[in-house]
Amino acid sequence: MDIARTPSTPDGNPHLADAPPLPPTPPMILREDYRPFGWLVPNVRLDFTLGLAETTVRADLQVARNPAADSTPVLRLNGDGLNPLEVLVDGAVMNSWVMEGPDLLVTLPDDAHTVTITTRIDPAANSQLMGLYASGGMLCTQCEAEGFRRITFFPDRPDVLSTYRVRMTGPRADFPVLLSNGDLVGSGDGADGTHWAEWHDPWPKPSYLFALVAGDLMVQRDSFTTMNGREVDLGIYVRAEDEGRTDHAMQSLKRSMKWDEEVFGREYDLGIFNIVAVSDFNMGAMENKGLNVFNTKYVLADPDTATDGDYDAVEGVIAHEYFHNWSGNRITCRDWFQLSLKEGFTVLRDQLFSQDMGSAPVKRIEDVRVLRSVQFPEDSGPLSHPIRPDSFREISNFYTATVYNKGAEVIRMMRTMAGPERFRAGCDLYFQRHDGEAATCEDFVRAMEDGAGLDLRQFRRWYSQAGTPQVRVAVASVEGGVELTLSQTTPATPGQEGKQAVPIPLKLALHDRATGTLGEETLLMLTGAEQRVTLPHDGDAPVLSVNRGFSAPVVIRRDLAPDDLVFLAARDDDPFARYEAMQDLVVGHLLSAVRGEAPEKWGAEGGRAAIRDVLATVLADDGIDDLMRGELLILPGETYLAEQLPVADPGRIHTAREALKGWLGQALEGEFLALHHRASRVGNGFDAEAKGARKVKTQALVFLAAGNPGLAAELATAQYDASCEPGGTMTDRQGGLLVLAGLDSPARTARLLDFYNRHQDNPLVIDKWFSLQAQSLHRNALAHVQALAQHPDFTLRNPNRARSLFMAFVGNANAFHAPGGEGYRMIADTVLALDPLNPQTAARFVPPLGRWRRIEPGRAALMREQLERIAAAPRLSRDTFEQVSRSLG
Ligand code: PHE
Ligand code: ZN
Repeated sequence: MDIARTPSTPDGNPHLADAPPLPPTPPMILREDYRPFGWLVPNVRLDFTLGLAETTVRADLQVARNPAADSTPVLRLNGDGLNPLEVLVDGAVMNSWVMEGPDLLVTLPDDAHTVTITTRIDPAANSQLMGLYASGGMLCTQCEAEGFRRITFFPDRPDVLSTYRVRMTGPRADFPVLLSNGDLVGSGDGADGTHWAEWHDPWPKPSYLFALVAGDLMVQRDSFTTMNGREVDLGIYVRAEDEGRTDHAMQSLKRSMKWDEEVFGREYDLGIFNIVAVSDFNMGAMENKGLNVFNTKYVLADPDTATDGDYDAVEGVIAHEYFHNWSGNRITCRDWFQLSLKEGFTVLRDQLFSQDMGSAPVKRIEDVRVLRSVQFPEDSGPLSHPIRPDSFREISNFYTATVYNKGAEVIRMMRTMAGPERFRAGCDLYFQRHDGEAATCEDFVRAMEDGAGLDLRQFRRWYSQAGTPQVRVAVASVEGGVELTLSQTTPATPGQEGKQAVPIPLKLALHDRATGTLGEETLLMLTGAEQRVTLPHDGDAPVLSVNRGFSAPVVIRRDLAPDDLVFLAARDDDPFARYEAMQDLVVGHLLSAVRGEAPEKWGAEGGRAAIRDVLATVLADDGIDDLMRGELLILPGETYLAEQLPVADPGRIHTAREALKGWLGQALEGEFLALHHRASRVGNGFDAEAKGARKVKTQALVFLAAGNPGLAAELATAQYDASCEPGGTMTDRQGGLLVLAGLDSPARTARLLDFYNRHQDNPLVIDKWFSLQAQSLHRNALAHVQALAQHPDFTLRNPNRARSLFMAFVGNANAFHAPGGEGYRMIADTVLALDPLNPQTAARFVPPLGRWRRIEPGRAALMREQLERIAAAPRLSRDTFEQVSRSLG
């Protein structure tokens, strides 16, 4: 199944005698192998003597045999690159410890002891950004999933819960701010300009939720009064240069706290809630108890440097991490196979929050777009796994769209089946039953059954089965109504050949195209492989609207005539269904163009005329706001289109999609021009109207750029220049520049330079500068990216910067899939260069190459070649090894 990286046999192969020993294949960890840990660690004291290049950690672990586990005198403490400087048991030096690989094994005579271990680490040399590391002169930690073992020896698994007391000592000048989880219980001065602080967290937690921050930071303070009248001090800590950009994050935090009380009945449980922004961070943010650590990208925002999309992302991530306080921290995961227990649930919670804060239908469409363009491809490729995986080599590789986003969809389906009130009762029961525990997905499902009154026996398959179910819907007229035939299949995925039927909640309505009557919405459960239902209908032209609101994360195959799609796109009362019909119409046209099929089936102009007419309706429709109009104007992306074909030719998809865009840009030039003018007259505010106007303004430019590049270049330049006037927004500036970057115009170079000079001091904005060139439709985008990789501001050491160039590039399907394979080579080079520095981030660049089986043979061979080149490299990290071997397998 995976490429053999055979360990040299102990008795020695003569042919390998001179060769350096090959590293062993990282072991496969299995969900079914779970056993409770032999020891409990009720209390932990950590004492840090801080320095950027040398930090000493003294850990006191109070341990006791776990009555619920198999009895063992051996205490296995995980380590990663650590040496124990000293080991004490009950205060006395103990020399009989042994190392087994990276772990420390201590044999203990009795049932309860105190084990004291001293370790020394070099945070400045920590380029993996796991454990304790230095970032821009400050010290911070990242422990999820297995980073704590890079700080001290510990049973680094989520089912070992302890209360932590943390003392930090360090030079006051370097680290005026000293933070950890929980409450501040003491602080003072020490010798030689040092000072100290001590924090205590009363809530037992696993080691992955531990955090420490030390640095020279500014703070924005505020407070929140909980539903029971308790005062919580809020603080957002940032570096001096970022002061003044935390207001939106603070408002988002307070809204999240209030919303979780109102909607889920969850109250915050400490007197302090702190957030720290760090510019070197592998992920988005981390929910450490009482001390969330964030990537600066999801904290900092002001109109001059953040787009409307950035504002929404900050709000969503702040909420997500805050909501983890209950769904993740108060109730954590028993083992990492249960990751979706906290992540799927918390993503659903943040999605519902964002739906309530802004436009619910628009948020739903955005979330579905992410699911279908990221999770669906993952689920139909070599990395496919159930939301509760059965095995892994490196857990960092399982922080995926499947665990997060499909996980959220699975819980959303329970909510759809139960309705919001019974769903709330199920959640209440879950929180009540498992508070303080390390729980499983099964615990959650059982609480939903008991609390919401659902029968989820068959539904559990959603947790164990990978792959996206495909639902076929056929409609036939019968006496007095229509008969629906629904059937489901799930394609085989790696390691799962046979699939079973899953229960699929489908919201549907039966409209009539002739009379324009809109039918009432009902919920239908498709539970078997095939099912027939008869729906009453009076009218001659029934049109089925199905999977409304995207009630189930499935692919719907329906044979709707273009006229029916046009009707739904223009008239359906479910906004998602309108969007969906629009997408289907475009997908139908583009796929037939890509396949070179006779396009007449799609009507005049091979379907383009119908698309033009619906777009014209959408552009003129007063019944929707611009935020929604903006969604309806987004053409299906190239990855999503590729996903519709068993084997795709990315070049043909790109050409067909650009051709349609250009044709529409010309056919509707007057309309798009009018839209751009109208939207340009709306002010720079942050209300829905202004945000919507900005969204459609740039979208109009996108169509015009394809239809009339000269005119678009002028408009984009003007949009850019206007955005540089006082009060102008980054949204307009970035939008104008993105369009301009795709065109050949003298203004292109000038405005790119202007943007760079204007924002040179702001790394997050320089990230945008890299991204928008890497994403641009310019025919030389690949060469631009190659040149940008040599830019003095480019570095692989900062994950945001590395992603800003290369992830953006991977998303630029036409450039990434350059027929000569240069794009694939560049990504493989990136993986190889990044892997020794930061394996977690390096491994994230492997999946795009892993799509080779679904790409035409010429490119597929080139993609494979690059995967094999990575696989052949000596000393690959566990992270990259796992992703590459699964991708080739
Ligand atoms: N648990 C974090 C979240 O989803 C994600 C994360 C995982 C961050 C691993 C860092 C490391 O909120
Ligand atoms: Zn999360």
